[in-house]
Amino acid sequence: MKRVAILISGGGSNMLALLRDMASGGHPCVPVLVASNDPKAGGLAKAAALGIPTAAVDHRPFGRDRAGFEAALLQPILAAEPDILCLAGFMRILTPEFIRRFEGRMLNIHPSLLPKYPGLHTHQRALEAGDAEAGCTVHEVTAELDAGPVLGQARVPILPGDTAESLAARVLVQEHRLYPAVLRRFAEGQTVPLMLA
Ligand code: GAR
Repeated sequence: MKRVAILISGGGSNMLALLRDMASGGHPCVPVLVASNDPKAGGLAKAAALGIPTAAVDHRPFGRDRAGFEAALLQPILAAEPDILCLAGFMRILTPEFIRRFEGRMLNIHPSLLPKYPGLHTHQRALEAGDAEAGCTVHEVTAELDAGPVLGQARVPILPGDTAESLAARVLVQEHRLYPAVLRRFAEGQTVPLMLA
């Protein structure tokens, strides 16, 4: 069984999709920790309600001291001894030193069809570009932001009248399909990208 820690910053709907899938039969992974940089992240209570250990390390008291924040965040993570680290709406940029520690075993979900639109405001940027489709990507985390090897993508059409909000909601449904499917494959050593319609 692979031990999985999940890092979140918000509501944690992707985290829940991962936890629900791991709770279903025959899964190669077991969740060992949900951690957040925001003690108020809604996902923490949802994970705790499912009996998953949680940790919160508020990044704000650390100011610009990223290394200090990460050293504090590492404590519960290392104690949980994860094999795989999943970023699920984790909105802090991690230092190369942190990323190196989990090289080859850290995944992220990003709400665009990478390499298009790394960073923020992905849906607005897709709309402004006049794109016909949007989607989401699960990728391995490397030191370059949103640029690691792609492990899976799911696509959705952009419809007339779409707003960033309506598009985000359509993409999110696909995120919840894609991330659990990619995590299962990754845990079994499968890194050929999974392309969902
Ligand atoms: C998701 O749409 C995820 O793709 C995005 O944040 C949202 C988190 O929602 N992640 C990023 O933008 C990472 N740069 P959730 O907390 O409900 O899973």
